[in-house]
Amino acid sequence: MPTFRIAVLPGDGIGPEVIGQAIRVVEAAIRATDVAGSSATIRIEWVHFPWNSDYYRQHGRLLPADGFDQLRQFDAILFGAIGWPGVPDHVTIHSLLLPLRRKFDQYVNLRPAYLFEGVQSPLRDKAPGSIDMLVFRENTEGEYAPIGGRLYEETDQDIAIQTAVFTRRGCSRVMRAAFAAARKRRKKVTSITKSNALGFGMVLWDAVFRDIAREFPDIETQSLLVDAAAMDFVRKPESFDVVVATNLFGDILTDLSAIVTGSVGLAPSANINPERTYPSLFEPVHGSAPDIAGKGIANPLAAILSAAMMLEHLDCHIPANAIRTAVAAVLKAGIPRTPDLGGSATTAEVATVVAENLAGQR
Ligand code: IPM
Ligand code: MN
Repeated sequence: MPTFRIAVLPGDGIGPEVIGQAIRVVEAAIRATDVAGSSATIRIEWVHFPWNSDYYRQHGRLLPADGFDQLRQFDAILFGAIGWPGVPDHVTIHSLLLPLRRKFDQYVNLRPAYLFEGVQSPLRDKAPGSIDMLVFRENTEGEYAPIGGRLYEETDQDIAIQTAVFTRRGCSRVMRAAFAAARKRRKKVTSITKSNALGFGMVLWDAVFRDIAREFPDIETQSLLVDAAAMDFVRKPESFDVVVATNLFGDILTDLSAIVTGSVGLAPSANINPERTYPSLFEPVHGSAPDIAGKGIANPLAAILSAAMMLEHLDCHIPANAIRTAVAAVLKAGIPRTPDLGGSATTAEVATVVAENLAGQR
Protein backbone atom coordinates (compact mmCIF):
# COMPACT_ATOMS: atom_id res chain seq x y z
CA MET A 1 0.00 0.00 0.00
CA PRO A 2 1.84 3.15 -1.13
CA THR A 3 1.79 5.86 1.51
CA PHE A 4 2.93 9.34 0.57
CA ARG A 5 3.91 12.09 2.96
CA ILE A 6 2.97 15.50 1.64
CA ALA A 7 4.12 18.79 3.15
CA VAL A 8 1.28 21.30 2.93
CA LEU A 9 2.15 25.01 2.90
CA PRO A 10 -1.13 26.86 2.50
CA GLY A 11 0.60 30.24 2.93
CA ASP A 12 -1.28 33.53 2.75
CA GLY A 13 -4.55 34.96 1.51
CA ILE A 14 -6.62 32.62 -0.61
CA GLY A 15 -3.85 29.97 -0.37
CA PRO A 16 -5.40 28.19 2.65
CA GLU A 17 -8.91 28.47 1.14
CA VAL A 18 -8.01 26.70 -2.09
CA ILE A 19 -5.53 24.22 -0.62
CA GLY A 20 -8.08 22.94 1.91
CA GLN A 21 -10.46 22.15 -0.95
CA ALA A 22 -7.71 20.59 -3.09
CA ILE A 23 -6.89 18.15 -0.28
CA ARG A 24 -10.57 17.26 0.04
CA VAL A 25 -10.78 16.55 -3.69
CA VAL A 26 -7.62 14.41 -3.68
CA GLU A 27 -9.07 12.32 -0.86
CA ALA A 28 -12.32 11.96 -2.84
CA ALA A 29 -10.36 10.90 -5.94
CA ILE A 30 -8.45 8.27 -4.00
CA ARG A 31 -11.67 6.87 -2.52
CA ALA A 32 -13.38 6.87 -5.91
CA THR A 33 -10.57 5.05 -7.72
CA ASP A 34 -9.64 2.66 -4.94
CA VAL A 35 -10.26 -0.99 -5.64
CA ALA A 36 -11.23 -2.17 -2.17
CA GLY A 37 -8.57 -4.24 -0.49
CA SER A 38 -6.14 -3.86 -3.40
CA SER A 39 -2.41 -3.51 -2.79
CA ALA A 40 -2.56 -0.39 -4.95
CA THR A 41 -4.54 1.49 -2.30
CA ILE A 42 -3.00 4.93 -1.90
CA ARG A 43 -2.72 6.66 1.42
CA ILE A 44 -1.63 10.24 1.90
CA GLU A 45 -0.39 11.74 5.11
CA TRP A 46 -0.78 15.54 4.96
CA VAL A 47 1.54 17.49 7.24
CA HIS A 48 0.71 21.19 7.53
CA PHE A 49 3.28 23.94 8.00
CA PRO A 50 2.22 27.42 9.16
CA TRP A 51 4.99 29.30 7.32
CA ASN A 52 3.44 32.48 5.99
CA SER A 53 3.41 36.24 6.51
CA ASP A 54 1.78 35.91 9.96
CA TYR A 55 4.50 33.51 11.01
CA TYR A 56 7.01 36.09 9.78
CA ARG A 57 5.42 38.84 11.88
CA GLN A 58 5.60 36.63 14.98
CA HIS A 59 9.04 35.08 14.49
CA GLY A 60 10.91 37.58 12.34
CA ARG A 61 11.53 34.85 9.77
CA LEU A 62 9.38 32.98 7.34
CA LEU A 63 10.44 29.51 8.35
CA PRO A 64 12.61 27.98 11.08
CA ALA A 65 16.36 27.50 10.53
CA ASP A 66 15.88 23.81 9.75
CA GLY A 67 12.77 24.46 7.59
CA PHE A 68 14.28 23.30 4.32
CA ASP A 69 15.68 20.16 6.01
CA GLN A 70 12.21 19.38 7.31
CA LEU A 71 10.64 19.78 3.86
CA ARG A 72 13.30 17.63 2.26
CA GLN A 73 11.92 14.56 4.00
CA PHE A 74 8.60 14.70 2.14
CA ASP A 75 7.50 13.05 -1.10
CA ALA A 76 6.08 16.34 -2.42
CA ILE A 77 5.02 19.81 -1.36
CA LEU A 78 1.56 21.27 -1.93
CA PHE A 79 1.82 25.05 -1.86
CA GLY A 80 -0.92 27.71 -1.78
CA ALA A 81 0.45 31.22 -2.21
CA ILE A 82 2.73 33.53 -0.34
CA GLY A 83 2.70 37.31 0.04
CA TRP A 84 0.64 39.75 2.07
CA PRO A 85 0.42 43.55 2.25
CA GLY A 86 2.68 44.90 4.97
CA VAL A 87 5.41 42.32 4.48
CA PRO A 88 7.55 43.20 1.46
CA ASP A 89 7.25 40.63 -1.33
CA HIS A 90 11.00 40.42 -1.70
CA VAL A 91 11.15 39.23 1.93
CA THR A 92 8.48 36.53 1.75
CA ILE A 93 9.31 35.31 -1.72
CA HIS A 94 13.09 35.48 -1.34
CA SER A 95 12.98 33.53 1.93
CA LEU A 96 10.78 30.70 0.81
CA LEU A 97 9.54 30.12 -2.72
CA LEU A 98 12.56 31.14 -4.80
CA PRO A 99 15.18 29.46 -2.56
CA LEU A 100 13.02 26.32 -2.49
CA ARG A 101 13.02 26.11 -6.28
CA ARG A 102 16.83 26.37 -6.27
CA LYS A 103 17.70 24.31 -3.17
CA PHE A 104 15.47 21.46 -4.32
CA ASP A 105 16.76 21.82 -7.88
CA GLN A 106 13.22 22.12 -9.25
CA TYR A 107 14.51 23.23 -12.60
CA VAL A 108 11.35 22.52 -14.56
CA ASN A 109 8.41 24.81 -13.90
CA LEU A 110 5.66 23.08 -15.80
CA ARG A 111 2.61 25.17 -16.68
CA PRO A 112 -0.12 23.68 -18.85
CA ALA A 113 -2.75 25.95 -20.41
CA TYR A 114 -5.85 24.27 -21.79
CA LEU A 115 -9.12 25.79 -22.95
CA PHE A 116 -11.78 23.62 -21.31
CA GLU A 117 -15.18 23.08 -22.85
CA GLY A 118 -17.66 25.42 -21.20
CA VAL A 119 -15.07 28.11 -20.49
CA GLN A 120 -15.14 31.35 -22.45
CA SER A 121 -11.75 32.51 -23.72
CA PRO A 122 -11.37 36.30 -23.89
CA LEU A 123 -10.24 35.61 -27.47
CA ARG A 124 -13.03 35.42 -30.02
CA ASP A 125 -14.19 32.08 -31.48
CA LYS A 126 -11.81 29.71 -29.76
CA ALA A 127 -13.08 26.14 -29.72
CA PRO A 128 -12.67 23.94 -26.63
CA GLY A 129 -9.30 22.22 -26.72
CA SER A 130 -8.00 24.50 -29.47
CA ILE A 131 -5.63 26.12 -26.99
CA ASP A 132 -3.52 23.35 -25.49
CA MET A 133 0.02 24.28 -24.59
CA LEU A 134 2.58 23.15 -22.09
CA VAL A 135 5.15 25.71 -20.99
CA PHE A 136 8.50 24.57 -19.60
CA ARG A 137 9.86 27.50 -17.68
CA GLU A 138 13.49 27.34 -16.53
CA ASN A 139 13.23 27.68 -12.76
CA THR A 140 16.67 27.81 -11.16
CA GLU A 141 18.78 30.44 -12.95
CA GLY A 142 18.33 33.00 -15.74
CA GLU A 143 17.03 36.42 -14.82
CA TYR A 144 16.00 35.21 -11.33
CA ALA A 145 19.55 34.33 -10.23
CA PRO A 146 20.16 36.33 -7.04
CA ILE A 147 23.36 37.84 -8.40
CA GLY A 148 23.94 41.55 -8.08
CA GLY A 149 23.94 44.25 -5.52
CA ARG A 150 22.96 47.68 -4.46
CA LEU A 151 25.32 50.54 -3.79
CA TYR A 152 24.71 53.99 -2.30
CA GLU A 153 21.19 52.90 -1.47
CA GLU A 154 18.62 55.67 -0.96
CA THR A 155 21.03 58.37 -2.12
CA ASP A 156 21.00 60.04 -5.48
CA GLN A 157 23.95 57.87 -6.53
CA ASP A 158 21.85 54.75 -5.92
CA ILE A 159 23.08 51.90 -8.14
CA ALA A 160 21.53 48.48 -8.65
CA ILE A 161 23.14 45.67 -10.61
CA GLN A 162 21.07 42.61 -11.43
CA THR A 163 22.84 39.94 -13.42
CA ALA A 164 21.20 37.13 -15.35
CA VAL A 165 22.91 33.74 -15.34
CA PHE A 166 22.67 31.27 -18.21
CA THR A 167 24.60 28.01 -18.22
CA ARG A 168 24.81 25.32 -20.85
CA ARG A 169 23.79 22.77 -18.23
CA GLY A 170 20.85 24.86 -17.05
CA CYS A 171 19.53 25.49 -20.56
CA SER A 172 20.07 21.92 -21.78
CA ARG A 173 18.28 20.17 -18.96
CA VAL A 174 15.05 22.15 -19.20
CA MET A 175 15.12 21.94 -23.00
CA ARG A 176 15.64 18.18 -22.93
CA ALA A 177 12.65 17.84 -20.61
CA ALA A 178 10.58 19.95 -23.01
CA PHE A 179 11.56 17.87 -26.05
CA ALA A 180 10.85 14.62 -24.21
CA ALA A 181 7.37 15.91 -23.33
CA ALA A 182 6.71 16.98 -26.93
CA ARG A 183 7.23 13.37 -28.03
CA LYS A 184 4.10 12.46 -26.08
CA ARG A 185 2.12 15.39 -27.50
CA ARG A 186 1.94 17.13 -30.89
CA LYS A 187 5.72 16.96 -31.44
CA LYS A 188 6.52 20.65 -31.60
CA VAL A 189 8.76 22.76 -29.34
CA THR A 190 8.93 26.55 -29.45
CA SER A 191 11.90 28.24 -27.80
CA ILE A 192 11.39 31.78 -26.50
CA THR A 193 14.39 34.03 -26.95
CA LYS A 194 15.58 37.62 -27.15
CA SER A 195 18.98 37.06 -28.68
CA ASN A 196 18.57 40.07 -30.95
CA ALA A 197 19.03 42.32 -27.90
CA LEU A 198 20.60 40.14 -25.18
CA GLY A 199 23.73 39.11 -27.04
CA PHE A 200 25.30 36.83 -24.44
CA GLY A 201 22.82 34.85 -22.38
CA MET A 202 20.16 34.50 -25.05
CA VAL A 203 22.70 33.67 -27.72
CA LEU A 204 23.89 30.78 -25.54
CA TRP A 205 20.23 29.79 -25.02
CA ASP A 206 19.70 29.65 -28.81
CA ALA A 207 22.89 27.65 -29.41
CA VAL A 208 21.90 25.09 -26.77
CA PHE A 209 18.41 24.88 -28.26
CA ARG A 210 19.87 24.01 -31.66
CA ASP A 211 22.12 21.35 -30.06
CA ILE A 212 19.31 19.72 -28.09
CA ALA A 213 17.01 19.82 -31.11
CA ARG A 214 19.50 17.60 -32.94
CA GLU A 215 18.94 14.91 -30.28
CA PHE A 216 15.22 14.95 -31.17
CA PRO A 217 15.05 14.92 -34.99
CA ASP A 218 11.40 13.81 -34.88
CA ILE A 219 10.34 17.05 -33.16
CA GLU A 220 9.47 20.20 -35.09
CA THR A 221 11.16 23.31 -33.69
CA GLN A 222 10.57 27.02 -33.75
CA SER A 223 12.48 29.88 -32.16
CA LEU A 224 10.50 33.03 -31.40
CA LEU A 225 11.53 36.36 -29.97
CA VAL A 226 9.63 36.96 -26.75
CA ASP A 227 7.87 40.07 -28.06
CA ALA A 228 6.63 38.20 -31.12
CA ALA A 229 5.64 35.29 -28.88
CA ALA A 230 3.53 37.62 -26.71
CA MET A 231 1.69 38.63 -29.86
CA ASP A 232 1.23 35.05 -31.07
CA PHE A 233 -0.02 33.80 -27.66
CA VAL A 234 -2.97 36.11 -28.40
CA ARG A 235 -3.11 36.01 -32.20
CA LYS A 236 -2.72 32.26 -32.73
CA PRO A 237 -2.39 30.37 -29.45
CA GLU A 238 -3.37 27.15 -31.32
CA SER A 239 0.06 27.17 -32.96
CA PHE A 240 1.82 26.33 -29.68
CA ASP A 241 2.36 22.85 -28.32
CA VAL A 242 5.36 22.69 -25.98
CA VAL A 243 7.06 26.01 -25.19
CA VAL A 244 10.43 26.36 -23.45
CA ALA A 245 11.38 29.68 -21.93
CA THR A 246 13.75 31.32 -19.48
CA ASN A 247 12.69 32.04 -15.92
CA LEU A 248 11.41 35.59 -16.48
CA PHE A 249 9.99 35.13 -19.98
CA GLY A 250 8.26 31.94 -18.82
CA ASP A 251 6.81 33.78 -15.84
CA ILE A 252 5.33 36.54 -17.98
CA LEU A 253 4.08 34.33 -20.80
CA THR A 254 2.32 31.91 -18.43
CA ASP A 255 0.09 34.67 -17.08
CA LEU A 256 -0.82 35.28 -20.70
CA SER A 257 -1.36 31.58 -21.47
CA ALA A 258 -3.51 31.35 -18.34
CA ILE A 259 -5.75 34.25 -19.22
CA VAL A 260 -6.33 33.21 -22.84
CA THR A 261 -7.70 29.93 -21.48
CA GLY A 262 -10.29 31.78 -19.43
CA SER A 263 -9.00 32.55 -15.96
CA VAL A 264 -5.85 32.51 -13.90
CA GLY A 265 -8.11 30.63 -11.46
CA LEU A 266 -7.78 27.57 -13.71
CA ALA A 267 -3.98 27.57 -14.12
CA PRO A 268 -2.00 24.89 -12.26
CA SER A 269 1.76 24.54 -12.04
CA ALA A 270 4.45 22.15 -10.94
CA ASN A 271 8.01 22.92 -9.87
CA ILE A 272 9.70 19.66 -10.65
CA ASN A 273 12.99 18.06 -9.76
CA PRO A 274 12.95 15.41 -12.48
CA GLU A 275 15.71 13.35 -10.85
CA ARG A 276 13.58 13.05 -7.70
CA THR A 277 16.57 13.78 -5.48
CA TYR A 278 14.36 16.38 -3.80
CA PRO A 279 10.62 16.83 -3.40
CA SER A 280 8.79 18.70 -6.15
CA LEU A 281 6.38 21.53 -5.38
CA PHE A 282 2.88 22.00 -6.77
CA GLU A 283 1.09 25.34 -6.69
CA PRO A 284 -1.66 27.28 -8.45
CA VAL A 285 -0.30 30.08 -10.67
CA HIS A 286 -2.53 32.71 -9.03
CA GLY A 287 -1.08 34.39 -5.97
CA SER A 288 -2.52 35.13 -2.53
CA ALA A 289 -5.10 37.59 -3.97
CA PRO A 290 -5.54 39.87 -0.90
CA ASP A 291 -8.49 41.60 -2.61
CA ILE A 292 -10.71 38.50 -2.40
CA ALA A 293 -9.06 36.68 0.52
CA GLY A 294 -11.38 35.60 3.34
CA LYS A 295 -14.49 35.86 1.17
CA GLY A 296 -14.57 32.19 0.22
CA ILE A 297 -14.97 32.97 -3.47
CA ALA A 298 -11.56 32.02 -4.87
CA ASN A 299 -11.62 29.49 -7.68
CA PRO A 300 -10.31 26.21 -6.20
CA LEU A 301 -9.77 24.57 -9.61
CA ALA A 302 -6.19 25.79 -10.14
CA ALA A 303 -5.19 24.28 -6.79
CA ILE A 304 -7.18 21.12 -7.53
CA LEU A 305 -5.48 20.72 -10.93
CA SER A 306 -2.10 21.38 -9.27
CA ALA A 307 -2.85 18.57 -6.82
CA ALA A 308 -3.66 16.33 -9.82
CA MET A 309 -0.22 17.20 -11.24
CA MET A 310 1.24 16.14 -7.89
CA LEU A 311 -0.54 12.76 -8.06
CA GLU A 312 0.74 12.35 -11.61
CA HIS A 313 4.30 13.04 -10.42
CA LEU A 314 3.85 10.42 -7.69
CA ASP A 315 2.81 7.95 -10.42
CA CYS A 316 -0.78 7.86 -9.16
CA HIS A 317 -2.15 8.24 -12.67
CA ILE A 318 -5.63 6.86 -12.04
CA PRO A 319 -6.76 9.37 -9.40
CA ALA A 320 -4.92 12.16 -11.27
CA ASN A 321 -6.92 11.43 -14.43
CA ALA A 322 -10.12 11.08 -12.44
CA ILE A 323 -9.63 14.61 -11.06
CA ARG A 324 -9.03 16.07 -14.52
CA THR A 325 -12.12 14.29 -15.84
CA ALA A 326 -14.20 15.64 -12.94
CA VAL A 327 -12.94 19.21 -13.40
CA ALA A 328 -13.63 19.06 -17.14
CA ALA A 329 -17.17 17.78 -16.48
CA VAL A 330 -17.92 20.50 -13.93
CA LEU A 331 -16.64 23.22 -16.25
CA LYS A 332 -18.62 21.79 -19.14
CA ALA A 333 -21.81 21.77 -17.04
CA GLY A 334 -21.27 25.49 -16.45
CA ILE A 335 -22.41 25.50 -12.84
CA PRO A 336 -21.32 26.10 -10.20
CA ARG A 337 -18.76 28.74 -11.04
CA THR A 338 -16.77 31.19 -8.96
CA PRO A 339 -16.87 34.93 -9.85
CA ASP A 340 -13.62 34.83 -11.91
CA LEU A 341 -15.60 32.69 -14.39
CA GLY A 342 -18.68 34.88 -14.20
CA GLY A 343 -20.59 32.91 -11.55
CA SER A 344 -21.46 33.50 -7.91
CA ALA A 345 -20.55 30.17 -6.33
CA THR A 346 -18.19 29.77 -3.41
CA THR A 347 -14.85 27.96 -3.32
CA ALA A 348 -16.40 25.13 -1.28
CA GLU A 349 -19.44 24.76 -3.56
CA VAL A 350 -17.24 24.24 -6.62
CA ALA A 351 -15.01 21.73 -4.83
CA THR A 352 -18.06 19.86 -3.51
CA VAL A 353 -19.40 19.35 -7.03
CA VAL A 354 -15.98 18.12 -8.20
CA ALA A 355 -15.89 15.65 -5.28
CA GLU A 356 -19.45 14.49 -6.09
CA ASN A 357 -18.48 13.93 -9.71
CA LEU A 358 -15.56 11.81 -8.49
CA ALA A 359 -17.85 9.77 -6.26
CA GLY A 360 -20.05 9.23 -9.32
CA GLN A 361 -17.07 7.87 -11.31
CA ARG A 362 -16.78 4.94 -8.88
C1 IPM B 1 5.02 32.72 -10.23
C2 IPM B 1 5.10 33.98 -9.42
C3 IPM B 1 6.49 34.08 -8.82
C4 IPM B 1 7.49 34.07 -9.94
C5 IPM B 1 6.68 35.32 -7.93
C6 IPM B 1 5.78 35.27 -6.74
C7 IPM B 1 8.12 35.54 -7.54
O1 IPM B 1 4.78 35.08 -10.19
O2 IPM B 1 5.22 31.62 -9.67
O3 IPM B 1 4.74 32.82 -11.43
O4 IPM B 1 7.70 35.09 -10.60
O5 IPM B 1 8.09 33.03 -10.17
MN1 MN C 1 4.09 34.59 -12.20
